Amino acid sequence: METKIVLHNSVSLDCSFIGFHPNMDLHYRIVNHYKPNIYLAGSNTARSGIELFGKMLPDETANDTQKPKKDKSLPFWVISDTKGSLKDLLHHYRRLDCCRDLVILASKSTPSDYLKYLDERHYDYIIAGDNFINYKSALKELITKYQSSTIVVDSGSILGYILLNENLIDEISLIVSPEIIGIHSKNLFGELKTKINLSCSHCEKFPDGNIWITYEVKK
Ligand SMILES: NC(=O)c1ccc[n+]([C@@H]2O[C@H](COP(=O)([O-])OP(=O)(O)OC[C@H]3O[C@@H](n4cnc5c(N)ncnc54)[C@H](OP(=O)(O)O)[C@@H]3O)[C@@H](O)[C@H]2O)c1
Repeated sequence: METKIVLHNSVSLDCSFIGFHPNMDLHYRIVNHYKPNIYLAGSNTARSGIELFGKMLPDETANDTQKPKKDKSLPFWVISDTKGSLKDLLHHYRRLDCCRDLVILASKSTPSDYLKYLDERHYDYIIAGDNFINYKSALKELITKYQSSTIVVDSGSILGYILLNENLIDEISLIVSPEIIGIHSKNLFGELKTKINLSCSHCEKFPDGNIWITYEVKK
């Protein structure tokens, strides 16, 4: 199966992925434009999302421990979390209307009590890699198991640069916000090990000054 893997981020003009005011409505409209079957994020991103709504986090109920029956056109949300840092928190995401269900990427070093937590709640998981995830094999298994033609990666810089370093990204989608962060900026691509050649495939300006640019990764 031909699968496109898109790295999607909002950034400031100086390419910071934090410390600015992203247009979240536009950010998710563009995620939906790709119609992904898989929406992938790192554990730091998933935790920061929960912290944003922390005080309103509902307690888990018996309903949350069952696999939800939702529209099959919705994407699976996949979170890489080898250390089990989202234990007791996953029901927050399982409840979201836009999430078909969660799939966790784990490794051979993932604590057994986390795997037990996942098993007891019928969360799917994939074990790939000894310590950290081996993304090449994890993505291969995800694509086969969930018949995925489009994967959108919406994460912070770490997961993005790991996938770029491993040549696993086909397209980069950036929403550039009209702000410069300067000295406090954290460059989205600051940890890349290799130079990556791109070909610009789309550029669109929105009334609030945000610009959406997409690039194909030349392989
Ligand atoms: N501007 C945007 O568009 C945007 C989008 C999303 C998030 N964010 C922001 O980004 C921040 C979080 O991003 P982040 O860069 O800290 O982290 P992240 O990309 O969310 O998560 C890092 C992931 O990489 C994995 N990892 C770390 N080292 C690895 C290695 N050597 N090999 C394989 N996998 C490895 C971790 O796995 P383990 O869990 O297994 O350790 C973790 O799942 C938050 O502040 C969030 O708000 C911004």
